[in-house]
Amino acid sequence: MFFRQIFHEESSTLTYLLGDPLWKEAMAIDTVDGTADSVLAILREAGLQLAHVLETHVHADHVSAARELRSRTGARIVMARAAGAGCADLAVGDGDFLVLGDDAIRVLGTPGHTPDSLCFRWRDRVFTGDTLLIGGCGRTDFQGGDAGTLYDSLTSRLLVLPDETLVYPGHDYHGRRVSCIGEEKRLNPRLAVGSRDGFVGLMHQLDLPEPAMIGTAVPANRLCGERETGTTRQA
Ligand SMILES: [Fe+2]
Repeated sequence: MFFRQIFHEESSTLTYLLGDPLWKEAMAIDTVDGTADSVLAILREAGLQLAHVLETHVHADHVSAARELRSRTGARIVMARAAGAGCADLAVGDGDFLVLGDDAIRVLGTPGHTPDSLCFRWRDRVFTGDTLLIGGCGRTDFQGGDAGTLYDSLTSRLLVLPDETLVYPGHDYHGRRVSCIGEEKRLNPRLAVGSRDGFVGLMHQLDLPEPAMIGTAVPANRLCGERETGTTRQA
């Protein structure tokens, strides 16, 4: 088993590299524009070939490196069917499986933060994108987000997993890197409200600023990370 977590400082994004050393295959989840060189260096050093680049959803806060990684390695881009992204090589939904060497990775359809949000379950861990963050969850106030739908996804797809399941989120803004389902059930204040209506009320009270990159990141990521030179990098 090969596993790496990479933190992107500017966007607080957590990228994950998963690999099967026997069959020398790797998968990347939620890559960030500008990091392709380091991703490929890590995989090269481990003797792994990138086979799939997965997106947990169309991101609003950073541009994906999926398109660059595909063009440099031939890896296939995997996105949710609900994203309707013609650039993806493989469109998946709830209950589908992806193959990594001898392992099956289960796709969990978890709409709510966005309609196309997915989580991926592999072995003892789940990659939760922005659906479940450590001590929080993704916002639902733009990009087709819906708080009630997010509550349904959290309760029917994530909180049903065994308590010891490791939770690897798509972002963290407080230096935390991993949690587990049991800990989130006990400590996550968004889940402490205990009812769908309470959760929806709480999410509607949040008054968050728009992500700085939303105007450029969302259209770029609908094209798997296509950038018009010089227009999408922001200082
Ligand atoms: Fe997001």
